Amino acid sequence: MQTLERVQEVRDAVAAMRRRGERVAFVPTMGNLHAGHLALVRRAGEVASRVVASIFVNPLQFGPAEDFAGYPRTPDRDRATLATAGTQLLFMPPLEEIYPRGAQPLTRVQVVRLGEILCGASRPGHFDGVATVVNLLLNIVQPDVALFGEKDYQQLLVIRRMVADLHLPVEILGLATVREPDGLAMSSRNGYLSAAERQVAPRLYAALCGVRDGLAAGRRDLESLEREAAREIEQAGMRPDYLQVRRAADLERPGPDDVDLRVMGAAWLGRARLIDNVSARPAR
Ligand code: PAF
Repeated sequence: MQTLERVQEVRDAVAAMRRRGERVAFVPTMGNLHAGHLALVRRAGEVASRVVASIFVNPLQFGPAEDFAGYPRTPDRDRATLATAGTQLLFMPPLEEIYPRGAQPLTRVQVVRLGEILCGASRPGHFDGVATVVNLLLNIVQPDVALFGEKDYQQLLVIRRMVADLHLPVEILGLATVREPDGLAMSSRNGYLSAAERQVAPRLYAALCGVRDGLAAGRRDLESLEREAAREIEQAGMRPDYLQVRRAADLERPGPDDVDLRVMGAAWLGRARLIDNVSARPAR
């Protein structure tokens, strides 16, 4: 695996792949890789003949009181993991390569409404930061296909919206959330959990599944389903941020005829803000 730090080097390397007729898949990450990332890299190797990954902890998507400085950085371990999983090219730019005029660039991408609800309401500017850096990385790598996990379901929709609205010539592939055996969604931030919190953490997923099962069993009283689930995770020791049933396509509140739904949840547990989601279909 080749590791490159400069935009022009990556452009040249990907252009050489294209001249050889290769199809290029791209997996952007912030490092501290886990099995969820590896599933993306492996799938990338199935849908393309060359896999490019990036590791860049993007300051623009962190709020001023958030964990940018303390975000876990494990570059040596990540490099070895990516190489073993079948990555041919790793882009690991320093901050100034991505943001040469400082980490608060004047040009940003904003996905209105979709980027402002749920996690976007709790983390103002977060999805502007994500959309801006993903747009930038897609412009640098110019892959045929880019892969993202459904664990960050709202992020996946924000990226799909941006790609469609800006006519970016790339296919976006979303992959199912990879979970621990007890249901906890894999996340770099799970490392913030103490041993006792780690025992409690899967209760978020369990609460989302409870709402999903209630809908499948014919309940349509969304607000009481959501309230019961929020109470459940509160009693488990978490501080719920939101727990909501939304329309899968655009994360708006579902109407009576909507059948493709997503139960979305976020909760604080100690230092960690956990997010998760499950798909749901109401009984007809
Ligand atoms: O999901 C992530 O790790 C990040 O939000 C991403 C997509 C790499 C952008 O920084």
